[in-house]
Amino acid sequence: MDHLRPEARRIAEKPAIERLDCFATDRWIGYSRAQDALKRMDMLLATQPGRVRPQNMLVVGPSNNGKSTIAEKFQRQHPRRSSEERDRHIFPVLSVQMMPDVTAPRFYAQLLDALGSPLGNIRKTDRRNALTLNLMRACGVRLLVIDELHNLLCGPSSRQREILGLIRYLGNELRIPIVALGTKDAWLALRLDDQLENRFQPFLLSMWGDDAETGRLLASFETVIPLRGRSGLGLPALRKVIVERSEGLIGEMHQLLSSAAAHALTEGRERIEREDLLGCPFQAPSYRRQMMERELRA
Ligand SMILES: Nc1ncnc2c1ncn2[C@@H]1O[C@H](COP(=O)(O)OP(=O)(O)OP(=O)(O)O)[C@@H](O)[C@H]1O
Ligand SMILES: [Mg+2]
Repeated sequence: MDHLRPEARRIAEKPAIERLDCFATDRWIGYSRAQDALKRMDMLLATQPGRVRPQNMLVVGPSNNGKSTIAEKFQRQHPRRSSEERDRHIFPVLSVQMMPDVTAPRFYAQLLDALGSPLGNIRKTDRRNALTLNLMRACGVRLLVIDELHNLLCGPSSRQREILGLIRYLGNELRIPIVALGTKDAWLALRLDDQLENRFQPFLLSMWGDDAETGRLLASFETVIPLRGRSGLGLPALRKVIVERSEGLIGEMHQLLSSAAAHALTEGRERIEREDLLGCPFQAPSYRRQMMERELRA
């Protein structure tokens, strides 16, 4: 079982019946594009705080393609820590999510909440804004992550501009870089503010094609799926089926492989074969969409 990571190997030693529901667990795979994104974020964290015009980054990709997983990994690599000297927690990286019903007060409240402050419900606008900035400074925030930026487009255009102005203001005042993540609508949202648009360097997380890079990703998936035999997921024959069924999205690949692994075990096999990929209970995203549309029309 030397094709497995140690943790997967330990699980693979358990009887089949005990492994059936363990495939769906998420495990981090450091595929090269994700590592590049993390390196870029590290570079921003190391070089941009304190600059008059810090550089920002926008991670853009389709839904279910690994954006939030990268943001979470980055947050885990730079966790909050306690500082005796400052008698409070230090947050080198502060992460929030843009909500569809965002308003400026809610956004400030979210930042305060992420900092662990109970003061998010202060009503006086000036006081709350000043307090948020002061607290971010005091907590040593050096980089702000905003996930789901595309949700900004859900609100009226006046509010979109207001929130973009607020993001720009935070970056300028605190002199910290911002990493935003979202679908291509996030990029459209940023374009509403010229000054912001040219401060955000896009970083694309494209769909996965039937190529060698995807082969390496699938080979990595294979090292964390606790099956005793080698399946050769990254080799062209299975790779093609996986890319087609998952429609090139990493989240769908994960679901398909989890389902196929369980299917293989119930069939008494210790490796994933073509028939598991085709016969396991998995619905491709476009099929799910079609089904819903048909349901809604009926
Ligand atoms: N680096 C990774 N290693 C292993 N699995 C991953 C990785 N990245 C993504 N996945 C799988 O893909 C799923 C979807 O990823 P994620 O939630 O990061 O997508 P997203 O791009 O943020 O989607 P959305 O735009 O809908 O929020 C994860 O739950 C996980 O199963
Ligand atoms: Mg996400």
